[in-house]
Amino acid sequence: MNSISLPSDSPLLKKSFLYGTATSSFQIEGDVDNRLESIWDTFCERPSAIADSSNGDVACDHINRWKEDFEILLDLNVDAYRFSISWPRVMTKEGELNPKGIAFYQTLINALNDKGIKPFVTLYHWDLPQHLEDKGGWLNRQTAFEFENYADKVSKALGEDVYSYATFNEPFCSAYLGYEIGVHAPGRTGRKYGRAAAHHILLAHGLGMKMLRRNVPRSKAGIVLNFTPCYPATDKEEDIHATRIADEYINQWYMQPVMEGQYPEVIKDLSEEDRPPVEAGDMDTICQPLDFLGVNFYTRLRYSAATEQDALYYEHPHQGPVTDIGWEIYPRALFDLLTTLNNRYTLPPLFITENGAAMADEMLNGEVNDVDRVAYYDAHLKMIHKAVSNGVEVSGYFAWSLLDNFEWAEGYEKRFGLVYVDFETQKRTPKLSAAAYKALLKSRK
Ligand code: NOJ
Repeated sequence: MNSISLPSDSPLLKKSFLYGTATSSFQIEGDVDNRLESIWDTFCERPSAIADSSNGDVACDHINRWKEDFEILLDLNVDAYRFSISWPRVMTKEGELNPKGIAFYQTLINALNDKGIKPFVTLYHWDLPQHLEDKGGWLNRQTAFEFENYADKVSKALGEDVYSYATFNEPFCSAYLGYEIGVHAPGRTGRKYGRAAAHHILLAHGLGMKMLRRNVPRSKAGIVLNFTPCYPATDKEEDIHATRIADEYINQWYMQPVMEGQYPEVIKDLSEEDRPPVEAGDMDTICQPLDFLGVNFYTRLRYSAATEQDALYYEHPHQGPVTDIGWEIYPRALFDLLTTLNNRYTLPPLFITENGAAMADEMLNGEVNDVDRVAYYDAHLKMIHKAVSNGVEVSGYFAWSLLDNFEWAEGYEKRFGLVYVDFETQKRTPKLSAAAYKALLKSRK
């Protein structure tokens, strides 16, 4: 497929629907000598932690090449750019702002605003300063207050030049992948740890929201959650039940506290010891009115009743068709997700803050003809169109990602970019998907 097409009267083709691309600090920036160490620097040193044994030392060298990347954004003609602030770059160990670090983002934000591109800032996209991890990281309640201080200082410095602030990106990944099953930094394992980390991150979100309301009342403030919709493998009662439990454990565990100030029912199935360390007032702090909810969507999962003792459910491996990272391509789940969330919660406006696909890109005669990625975008945007037509309020869409970059535990082997990056030469080459995205944006009225 060469192009992305939507019905000509689609609300997604109105100028008021924002289109952007997204990145995150650790995945693209490099320039590690000018910032504190983060948990990802340390995790990359662990043998076998990263598929290609790489790290973020250079990544896309974005700190040095941002102007070139900015030109690509201009050429795409996006309305918005979503990126994250590197906590270890902008703060000192003493909890003060690092002027040089914050200046980088101020320059970028000014450049974006000058060209009418709305800056969407994420305060935390997984790169916790290592010195805080040394004190327990997200297992330590104090880290939530360190985040509050960071959110306070950064929002004062960047102010309302930022159109939208998200406190956190995908708390599920930081807590579950990082502290429960240990495949992401800092690589801790244990249900107790995963649940405690999640709680402190949610608490930090609530504390951060308060800072944003106080310091930047005219900027939008919210959070970005990832959702992997859960489907029963059969229509057997026990599989349907296990699927509900899985959904509560991986998706609603973050959504329900943020929206309703409560953990899902599955909390009762956990041993006393594994339950999150909730203190008086925490749930009220976590549940703050949001200007928007960012939804990241990539795939779905299928579940059956647990087969092992202690397990809450059995998660099936992905089945084809899959992307290069092995995730099933199942666009319908995005429609199901948006409509289900809308039926269940009183939602603020939604942004699809990430959606995209890792594909086995090949550079041929200087071109990357990623028809499979174009088809992925096309199918998913059509599902958003359908959800919006069914009454879900979606205000914008961000393609993940602007650039091929450091894909966490997968290293540089999995490419999600609209733009191909040759990691030897740092040459950027927009792929066919970039042209298709640009054409879609241009076709708007
Ligand atoms: C989620 C994360 O926010 C982003 O950092 C990651 O690269 C993509 N999804 C793809 O896995």
